[in-house]
Amino acid sequence: MISRRIFLKAVFASAALTTASHRLLSWADEAVEVPGKEGLIVRSARFLDLEMPPEFFDSWITSVPHFFVRNHMHEPNTLGPSEWRLTIGGEVEKPQTLNLTDLAKIEPHTVTNTLECAGNGRALQQQHVPGVQWRRGAVGTGRFTGPRLRDLLQRAAVKSTGKHAMFRGLDEVPGKVPPFIRSIPIEKAMDSDTLVATHMNGAPLTKHHGFPARALVPGWIGAASCKWLTEIKVLDKEFEGNFMKPGYRMPNQPIPPGGEVNPDDTHPITSLGVKSVIAGPSDGSVLKSRSVHIYGAAWAGEADIARVEISTDSSGSWRPVQLGTEQAHYAWKLWSFVWRAPKPGEYTIRARATDGQGRTQPPTAAWNPSGYLFNAVDQVKIRVQA
Ligand code: MTE
Repeated sequence: MISRRIFLKAVFASAALTTASHRLLSWADEAVEVPGKEGLIVRSARFLDLEMPPEFFDSWITSVPHFFVRNHMHEPNTLGPSEWRLTIGGEVEKPQTLNLTDLAKIEPHTVTNTLECAGNGRALQQQHVPGVQWRRGAVGTGRFTGPRLRDLLQRAAVKSTGKHAMFRGLDEVPGKVPPFIRSIPIEKAMDSDTLVATHMNGAPLTKHHGFPARALVPGWIGAASCKWLTEIKVLDKEFEGNFMKPGYRMPNQPIPPGGEVNPDDTHPITSLGVKSVIAGPSDGSVLKSRSVHIYGAAWAGEADIARVEISTDSSGSWRPVQLGTEQAHYAWKLWSFVWRAPKPGEYTIRARATDGQGRTQPPTAAWNPSGYLFNAVDQVKIRVQA
């Protein structure tokens, strides 16, 4: 049975909290302890939104306890694995109803994917925009396993009129909030790496990440990967609901910060952009050694990272960093660089990534009223004392 009870405790009442979470309390909206999650920053406790702090960017595969959580509403309350069903209907010849045992009989496939919330980095925009104030850590890399969505759709025999696959989650919808329903184009649904994932990092999905099954749409914004999946409906056109429009759209034209956007002049966000973040040293650090270990991660949605460069002064010169050897299409690359500060003082360190399509992180991100796809060149200010 899945329970919605999340044990919220005053932080100082808990002896189990890590040093990291103590250090991050000033960022947190509220001090909470969430079973199965460790040392994350709480951006919202009402509908659970947890951000990974920079120190956990040190692992190519993000452990489940450190993986960010983004919920638009309450997690499902009353669903047991034996009661769960996945229906496939709409523009198909043979509608299906599957249970977990049925899913387990279908050949599984594993995809290592960097999952990033479209709103990650919103708090770093120069002009404030409303929404969850994510900084760098609404992102993580997991190994997701489950049947290919394509295999399920082929069983159901999609009609030629089927153009989009719609996903419905089992979230508990509070009041008048519209349910979490979105759709993806049939071409992406049929891609051999798009999954109905039942496992993450080799273990069954936890409730926070969509147990018993979620869509996994690799390279695309996290919102495409519907959790607690219970219905797939093939539609003859894109789904039109709150989380497709006005939600998760980008203006077709550049908009000056604070400008008005005509909803009809927007398009749905699909793939993530090219982006790198500096995980260490953290912004505002005071360092006692001139030898500075600069490190982070870079990803590019459906593209691959070609290079990451750093700048340590204002001369406009960029130096390539060492990329980690662990790699997979759709997964971030970790990177690092050991830099010797020429003398004590204050420095601004910048990092920028370029992908295999030649896209480079811009100095400022394209402004939009929800702060989606923030990917401006990352920067931290540090002081070197020695
Ligand atoms: N699926 C459902 N049913 N409900 C949600 O609120 N949030 C989406 C997506 N899938 C969401 C959902 C968003 S916005 C993101 S970024 C990812 O789940 C986050 O996945 P995670 O919580 O497993 O990290």
